[in-house]
Amino acid sequence: MSRSPSPPASSLNSSGTSEVCSVDGDEATVYAPSSIGNVAVGYDVLGCIADVAGDRVTVRRIDEPTVRIAGIEGTVTDLPTALEQNTATAGLLRMIDDLGLDFGFEVYLQKGIPLGSGMGGSAASAVGSAVAANALLDDPLSIDRVFAYALIGEAVASGAIHPDNVAPCLYGGVVLTRSVDPPDVIHLPVPETVRCVLVHPDRTVATRDARARLPERLPYDDIVQQTAHIAAFVAGCYRGDVDLIGRSLRDFIVEPYRAELVPGFSSVKRAAIQAGALGCSLSGAGPACFAWARAGDADDVRTAMLDAFGDQDVPAEAWVVKTQTPGARLV
Ligand code: HSE
Repeated sequence: MSRSPSPPASSLNSSGTSEVCSVDGDEATVYAPSSIGNVAVGYDVLGCIADVAGDRVTVRRIDEPTVRIAGIEGTVTDLPTALEQNTATAGLLRMIDDLGLDFGFEVYLQKGIPLGSGMGGSAASAVGSAVAANALLDDPLSIDRVFAYALIGEAVASGAIHPDNVAPCLYGGVVLTRSVDPPDVIHLPVPETVRCVLVHPDRTVATRDARARLPERLPYDDIVQQTAHIAAFVAGCYRGDVDLIGRSLRDFIVEPYRAELVPGFSSVKRAAIQAGALGCSLSGAGPACFAWARAGDADDVRTAMLDAFGDQDVPAEAWVVKTQTPGARLV
């Protein structure tokens, strides 16, 4: 791939796929936005960009084939400094090893996404560093190979490889990951009229703990229902059928086991639906919650969800964003 000056590192193009770019010089900074995992209907496989906050990762090429952390600032500063346990560095160690690089990377991380928020903070750090390091390679890798290194970083945060935040953060838009090895990430054409409401209550939930709450086995009926809904959701996206998307935005297999981790979640969800939301659920492992709504209803949904948290004395902030926006990009 030829080198070009500071375009998006990873952006949706007209066909809904993404491209990775490189930089001149020995330093690259990437902005990696927040995202919503699961999107109710696709546990661990479906994700949506929700660019309301982001991490900035600056990576500098250094002479030794190793990784160094130059600093961590922002919303979270007490992240692990052991390179194998930090989401921004674990993937880079593997990249150096796999590619046999004779140089390494120094990483400076500016956290903009709160940790334990359910807004894809660990994925953003992992994606940001992988995209920035890739931009510094003599021969940058394809976006699918960058995806693999970002997943290694994300896995250290939750103890499991789940692509539902990494994929939208890297590729942008609403994406379904059929397979991580080999990568098979499908961009879903959600209608332009759909808006995403994201609400972040002032609470934290550790993804690792939220995953531990899930049962090892599920009732067959629930699996059948969920399968029908994810299939209908995808059909709704390709048909541009907003009603079908709304009927499909349901979670039978995860939300019931996690709802009580978020104080007031059931009333927040009820308020969202009453205000016209197409669907509402936890954002990833929570505590953030999201709803999708028609553009004309989105502000009412946002207000209703904020008020419902307020009624529980839970301070919260909320945003209305589009779903088809770019992922990580060079700045
Ligand atoms: N799919 C993951 C989970 C997302 O729900 O555990 C974590 O943000």
